[in-house]
Amino acid sequence: MPRLRFNAFSMNCVSHIHHGQWVRPDSRSVDYTDLDAWVELARLLERGKFDALFLADVVGTYSSYGGSRDAAIEEGLQTPVNDPSLLIPAMALATENLGFAFTQSVLQEQPFNFARRLSTLDHLTKGRVGWNIVTSYLADAGRNLGFGGLPSHEERYRRAEEYMQVVYKLLEGSWEDDAVVRDRERGVYADPAKIHDIDHRGEFYPDVPGPHLSEPSPQRTPVLFQAGASEWGRDFAARNAEAIFIIASTHDAARIVIEDVRGRAARCGRDPGDIVFFLGMSFIVGGTEEEARRKAAELDQTASPRGYAAHTGGSLGVDFSGIDLNAPIGELDHYNTQGIAKSLIDSAPDQTWTFGDLLANRAMNRIVGAPEQIADALEGWLEVGVGGINMPYYVTPGTFADFVDGAVPELQRRGLMQSEYAAGTLREKLADGGAGARLPESHPGGRTRRERLGRPPADRSSAPRPAAAPVAAA
Ligand SMILES: Cc1cc2nc3c(=O)[nH]c(=O)nc-3n(C[C@H](O)[C@H](O)[C@H](O)COP(=O)(O)O)c2cc1C
Repeated sequence: MPRLRFNAFSMNCVSHIHHGQWVRPDSRSVDYTDLDAWVELARLLERGKFDALFLADVVGTYSSYGGSRDAAIEEGLQTPVNDPSLLIPAMALATENLGFAFTQSVLQEQPFNFARRLSTLDHLTKGRVGWNIVTSYLADAGRNLGFGGLPSHEERYRRAEEYMQVVYKLLEGSWEDDAVVRDRERGVYADPAKIHDIDHRGEFYPDVPGPHLSEPSPQRTPVLFQAGASEWGRDFAARNAEAIFIIASTHDAARIVIEDVRGRAARCGRDPGDIVFFLGMSFIVGGTEEEARRKAAELDQTASPRGYAAHTGGSLGVDFSGIDLNAPIGELDHYNTQGIAKSLIDSAPDQTWTFGDLLANRAMNRIVGAPEQIADALEGWLEVGVGGINMPYYVTPGTFADFVDGAVPELQRRGLMQSEYAAGTLREKLADGGAGARLPESHPGGRTRRERLGRPPADRSSAPRPAAAPVAAA
């Protein structure tokens, strides 16, 4: 049986997914400005053989609830929020194998500048960085970034597509692998003939001549994560992503999304097997089922239904403040629950849930139990094609520590989780050594490299090569 990959899901803020919990005395999420807390978390995750720490990000405020951002501010709901990428070098220095995937929107920065940041981080982490490509959903992000409001969904994804072209040209198609010669005797650092302009011309980025400013890093392009759910989002993910975040509450729902995106990837000429699907899932682990249930009941006491409502409503652009969050949804007045709220309610598995319960569960399936129960539940997801788990915290680092010390040994015993890291970069580790450090040529980034630079030096020799040799794995 293949293994699952595990990402810890966090954010450089106080309250990320499970709201209300920051008030607990055992929560260190209020220390998000303290680098020591992040370094400790990274060390804990590496001890538990997690594949990566995944850092979300937004560049706006959640301001739908009651028509203002006040609820989000009081809840610490992703505001204040600091830059995720700046945490990575310190955590990388304290670890050897853990990957670090961070989020940045294509609206945020010119691709020329951002590509340099990606290369810098890939160098500093020795190839352990990933980028979660997002297109933003908060309206004030669009205004603050100079777009006069959020561009339409369709336009954001068209921009994202061109953004990727520029990034690929810079990271993959500008510097040849042997451009850097570091010849001390001749005083030549790099060979100008092997560094190429990119001469990009396009709709959103009319003139990017290049060359890229960084020399090639271990992965060139970091591992690409994405979470599009719309038609545009799925097409974009199928073309570009190597790891895709999905949210699904049933096996069938997960299977349908995975098959759909795999089909789209195959139609783009990619190997659908190159894509790993990460399912969002929350865990409350106890030594026994009873202990886990007790912990869950305690967490439910501090959970904030208003925080969940402000979060989900803010990301959908809907004001949920008129809905009674504590009444069973089966009893809610349907005149007050039209549109998105009604469709959420209609799809709920249990009409005795409150709207608050519904939103809390929508924010990533919750599994409560002893290690054996956690492992049993995970086996089922593996069978429908889920390749990884994306795990938010209730309490940080406590939720992750409970998982590492409680569930991980059982998962490793069953082969559901790695017991050792594979060698190499994050791309190689995620594929258990079955992939090269660089994007494959079936991927648009790998294709850009091939078209612009040809084969790497080792491949140019006239010596015959075995047919199955990995391409451009250097
Ligand atoms: C697990 C997960 C993590 C996400 N993280 C972020 C994030 O950090 N920042 C962000 O702006 N969007 C994030 N999103 C939102 C997605 O990028 C995307 O906008 C959303 O799933 C809707 O898809 P669509 O853009 O195709 O409509 C995340 C989505 C999921 C499922």
